[in-house]
Amino acid sequence: MARKKIALIGSGMIGGTLAHLCALKRLGDIVLFDVVEGLPQGKALDLLEAGPIEGFDCRIVGTNKYDDIEGADVCIVTAGLPRKPGMSRDDLLQVNTKIMVEVASNIRDRAPDAFVIVITNPLDAMVTCMHRITRFPKQRVVGQAGVLDSARYRAFVAMELGVSVDSVQAIVLGGHGDDMVPVRSYCHVAGIPVERLIAPERLDAIEARVRQAGGEIVNLLKISAYYSPAHAAIQMAEAYLLDRKQILPCAALLEGEYGVNGFFVGVPVLIGGRGVERVIEIDLSPAERKAFDASVAHVRELVQAMEKFLPAT
Ligand code: APR
Repeated sequence: MARKKIALIGSGMIGGTLAHLCALKRLGDIVLFDVVEGLPQGKALDLLEAGPIEGFDCRIVGTNKYDDIEGADVCIVTAGLPRKPGMSRDDLLQVNTKIMVEVASNIRDRAPDAFVIVITNPLDAMVTCMHRITRFPKQRVVGQAGVLDSARYRAFVAMELGVSVDSVQAIVLGGHGDDMVPVRSYCHVAGIPVERLIAPERLDAIEARVRQAGGEIVNLLKISAYYSPAHAAIQMAEAYLLDRKQILPCAALLEGEYGVNGFFVGVPVLIGGRGVERVIEIDLSPAERKAFDASVAHVRELVQAMEKFLPAT
């Protein structure tokens, strides 16, 4: 039985952290790809040299050639540019859509059976682009956003109460923007509804912080978060590779669920060996439903803006 092959498209801050986690967790052989010469090769070699210390013996290759991702079982995509001063959201969308089209075409041609996790922002548009270009079954294309946003919600609730993060369950739905929806009615602490433990105004503040959590890190680091998004994507990859049947909030293609058709939106899904095996529908309070619909409306706008940069078919 061959080891699984994990291709990381983009070897920047998140890509490097993904490789580190894949090696430590012994998920399979690793290919780091990037367009910058030397970057994936250097990270691969650095990591390989940590193998004797940690005892991981997977193959770790750094490359600028797409041929090396041939037959990958999992592809995790972080390739893209961050927003620079003076750049509009549309400018970023145009640049990253172009990159995503190139990445997706290469995944389609070289790793046709892969489970693909997209992390690049703007996430909801990029995962849609990946799906449109690869035409992979919807079970095998998914966006990472909800696992991270939910982890942030859990972390902040745990900090507020002085309890272990392990005791806090939470989900964040909708698009991966400032209008994401932390779902208060499903947030529990060891089974106790969070509203019994934290006053509404404090919960409002915590949820506002969740929505701005990416920006909070950028303000501190001057680059975007990388540990937590990498951990989130690895949880999704592990659920697939180990057929864990874990329920995780992810951007999945909806075809009627939640009254949404044809858009990738963050919802709870079951991830197992067949990929996104099921979308789980949950009841939302009227206020949560309204917030969810508003978030979906923004996803729709973003996707329509992205579509004009797709190549004509
Ligand atoms: N093909 C492959 N890689 C590319 C391409 C391309 N066409 N264009 C750029 N890249 C690479 C860059 O060279 C860089 O190494 O993508 C990498 C992105 O890495 P970082 O800039 O360090 O960004 P990172 O923090 O890893 O975030 C990546 O994930 O969370 C999102 O907003 C974040 O969109 C960003 C993405």
